[in-house]
Amino acid sequence: MKTNFLMGAAAMAGLMTLSACGGANNQADAPAATATETTAAVETPAPAAAPAAADGATLEYASFTTDVAAGEKVFASCRTCHVFDEGVNRVGPSLHKIVGRESGSVPGYSYSDANLASDVVWTSDVLFEYLEDPKGFMPGTKMAYPGVKDAQKRADLVAYLEAQSK
Ligand code: HEC
Repeated sequence: MKTNFLMGAAAMAGLMTLSACGGANNQADAPAATATETTAAVETPAPAAAPAAADGATLEYASFTTDVAAGEKVFASCRTCHVFDEGVNRVGPSLHKIVGRESGSVPGYSYSDANLASDVVWTSDVLFEYLEDPKGFMPGTKMAYPGVKDAQKRADLVAYLEAQSK
């Protein structure tokens, strides 16, 4: 109740700011963003039926039941920049046998320093974490991809990467 009232107030404030001075977008945006965040926080408990959520720990890849075919669909968003063929680099490096590979190890691909220095082995767990937020996981990476936020979709994607790495 209280939250709804506050959100309403925030939205109203946003509207009023907007109509008061149409050009001041920055000011109008601030309360709107707060309202969105409040909504997200309130809704979070509902879809949190994910396996590992109960203990409050971060989700692990292993706690998901995965669907390789669904993962292939998620991979469509990677395909613009990556293929699995060995030695074929596009905007991003070849993902040939990516699971178990060391970061920055494709010959002839011009990696960022961040990737080269990361010293990461792309296990399924590491990929699951990285692909949620590549730039957060590896600050300075030149992979321009926001990440797959939905944990189930991300788990399916990693399962697909695993299947392609066999
Ligand atoms: C807009 C292009 C683009 C998209 C889309 C993209 N990537 Fe990348 N990816 C890159 C680039 C560029 C790099 C090299 C990063 C660096 O050197 O910092 C990279 C690096 C990687 C690496 C590290 C490879 C290595 O050899 O260390 C992995 C793993 C990866 N991407 C997986 C994915 C997956 C999975 C997706 C889809 C969910 C995806 N990428 C989407 C451009 C992209």
